[in-house]
Amino acid sequence: TSGKVDFVNRLAVPPLAQSRIDDRGRRVFDLRAQPGRRDFGQGGPTDTWGFNGDYLGPTLRANRGEQVVVNVVNGIGEPTSVHWHGMHLPAAMDGGPHQMVRPGATWSPHWTVDQPAATLWYHPHPHGRTAEHVYRGMAGMFLLDDEPSAGLPLPRRYGVDDIPVIVQDRKFESDGRLDTDQGGIGGTGILGDTLLVNGTVGPYLDVSTERVRLRLLNGSNARTYDFGFADDRTFALVGTDGGLLERPHRTGRIRLSPGERAEIVVTVRPAERAVLRSYPPNQGLEFLGGRFTGGDDTFDVLELRAGNRLAPSPEVPDRLTPVERLDPATATETRRFRLNGREINGRKMDLDRIDFAVTRGATEIWEIEKQDATPHSFHVHDVQFQVLSVDGRQPPPELRGWKDTILVTGGEEIRIIARFADHADPNMPYMFHCHLLLHEDQGMMGQFVVVEPGQ
Ligand code: C2O
Ligand code: CU
Repeated sequence: TSGKVDFVNRLAVPPLAQSRIDDRGRRVFDLRAQPGRRDFGQGGPTDTWGFNGDYLGPTLRANRGEQVVVNVVNGIGEPTSVHWHGMHLPAAMDGGPHQMVRPGATWSPHWTVDQPAATLWYHPHPHGRTAEHVYRGMAGMFLLDDEPSAGLPLPRRYGVDDIPVIVQDRKFESDGRLDTDQGGIGGTGILGDTLLVNGTVGPYLDVSTERVRLRLLNGSNARTYDFGFADDRTFALVGTDGGLLERPHRTGRIRLSPGERAEIVVTVRPAERAVLRSYPPNQGLEFLGGRFTGGDDTFDVLELRAGNRLAPSPEVPDRLTPVERLDPATATETRRFRLNGREINGRKMDLDRIDFAVTRGATEIWEIEKQDATPHSFHVHDVQFQVLSVDGRQPPPELRGWKDTILVTGGEEIRIIARFADHADPNMPYMFHCHLLLHEDQGMMGQFVVVEPGQ
């Protein structure tokens, strides 16, 4: 695919979710999973699923320290769940396959936001059905704010100079229907030839300020993107999955596998058009010939159309936020995860099996080793981790911030470190899995519990 597109549609920006404060001081959101129908301009209307609308869902937004409640109503006619990807919260509130919501039922998880400002997201997580549920349109962003980040001179006006960019590839039949065949055993999952950004095909964004912050989310089922600009300009990478970096990283490319996020700040000149593009994500994937990730494909993603006069934006500061480094010397456990086919350590997901228990308060090193030829996108619930090394070497700058998902390419060994600070519950597991959603559905997932010391 060489994805030349005409930028003819104004980029849709998901609305900020309405919320109210209840009598206990908690911020309450309402999300309804529902069927819908949308005309994407692909030959006919498309049957979709969305939250509070026909495709994707509103952007939830909360402050660190706030208690939140989300009333999730399932209106899609089959069981589903809603997982808060990247959120640190009790396992019973996590929205994984143990928190299924029956059709017509309401599930109301609640928790206290206790992590740095970040770009998180939410999506269904029903065991064996996640790929299709996400593919049909159920996903949305969950933005967290905190005081230190609010004090930084970064673009922060939602929909004006702070823009969610949810990138998804889709395959449409000639009559506009979504081709939902996720591909068989051995495949990576569906690779679409049409890009949607926030549900918009061929999107442009009018820019009225000198700088714009793009919150990139790879919300695709299988495809990995290597984002950059058509004129190869550089931008400032300011945040990764779990929050802001210590310092901005100037680069011309940022690669994201399914589930990963990046916040970038790009500078534009008056009256210009700057095209965000996805380049073949070949780094470390060459030997695969692009077979598994769409590695040969170039896509135009989004056109930024700068106005003739731009409001000034402050420079990106040299220092963003202190990031506490987790010290490997404090780790009390090292675990190894061998990824192979659809198995982790020779096993497939079993809802009734707990693979291991982590002691509350423990810091652990996890070694992820890939044994097959397919790239995998390794994701851990509950925590944000730090990357200690990639193939024995220091992680590159884009992997030095908080992460919850990481692409594991050919023959690599990645060592990560995480602290499991709280939320012990011996009866309710968290997941770890490949975020290529077909792999996850086919069993490339396991479960751990967090238990009190001595349990
Ligand atoms: Cu984004 Cu276990 O998922
Ligand atoms: Cu995988």
